[in-house]
Amino acid sequence: MIISKNLKNIVVLTGAGISAESGIDTFRDQNGLWENHDIMDVASPQGFERNAQLVYEFYNQRRKQLLSDTVAPNAAHIALKKLEDNFDGEFSIITQNVDDLHERCGTKSVIHMHGELLKMRCVKTKEVFTTKSNFDEFTNCPCCLESGNLRPHIVWFGEIPFQLGKIEQLLSQCDLFISIGTSGSVYPAAMFVQLAKSNKNCLTIEQNLSETQVSENFDTLIHGSSSIEIPKLVEEILKNNNS
Ligand code: APR
Repeated sequence: MIISKNLKNIVVLTGAGISAESGIDTFRDQNGLWENHDIMDVASPQGFERNAQLVYEFYNQRRKQLLSDTVAPNAAHIALKKLEDNFDGEFSIITQNVDDLHERCGTKSVIHMHGELLKMRCVKTKEVFTTKSNFDEFTNCPCCLESGNLRPHIVWFGEIPFQLGKIEQLLSQCDLFISIGTSGSVYPAAMFVQLAKSNKNCLTIEQNLSETQVSENFDTLIHGSSSIEIPKLVEEILKNNNS
């Protein structure tokens, strides 16, 4: 695969697969989250309306897993940080993940389009607060000072992902689009490759264990674990683009 020289603008899309080797459950792999929970019960406004405690518990469990001392950024996260630090052009990561593993290894330009596990939001004021602890309907909201107003700062099915305007602008200008560890099952993320390809000179790469339902839209497929393949890809990009 030839990585173009003089790249100006790299956009990376990450999915649950990049965090799998850090010990974070994916959604649709064997024994994934959606095998053990009904999406509409734990990741939809209707589910929250029906049984808020179940939803709080689902996210409290995932937050606990994320904060356990066995979970840390892996070589793929670290390689993307190295790319951000050493690439002279524009670099952005759009992540579907709600974990903080990109940030934990120091990456700055991360857009969490599906929200963040370590944040909660007041349904009244929309104010967002960071949290590393469990919370539920009995937890007092830091702004209203009363309970019953807090929800996970997560984009649920049927809700609009965050920062889509900024994302579209980034995709409209990129000359390298790399998708890592996503099944391409959920829109609009699954069509970002199409937006990137609207630039004639944009090279699109899909890195995954195997083919996905959107693989046909990519110029190049790199199969294998992201912790092995992404460091190699980053080396190649920097070799061809280091001024
Ligand atoms: N290296 C590379 N890819 C991997 C690895 C790995 N070590 N392990 C798993 N994968 C790939 C799987 O092959 C699969 O294609 O990661 C992908 C994970 O797919 P999903 O579980 O569907 O996760 P994702 O694509 O991020 O889901 C998108 O769906 O449920 C919603 O909001 C949720 O953000 C999530 C969205």
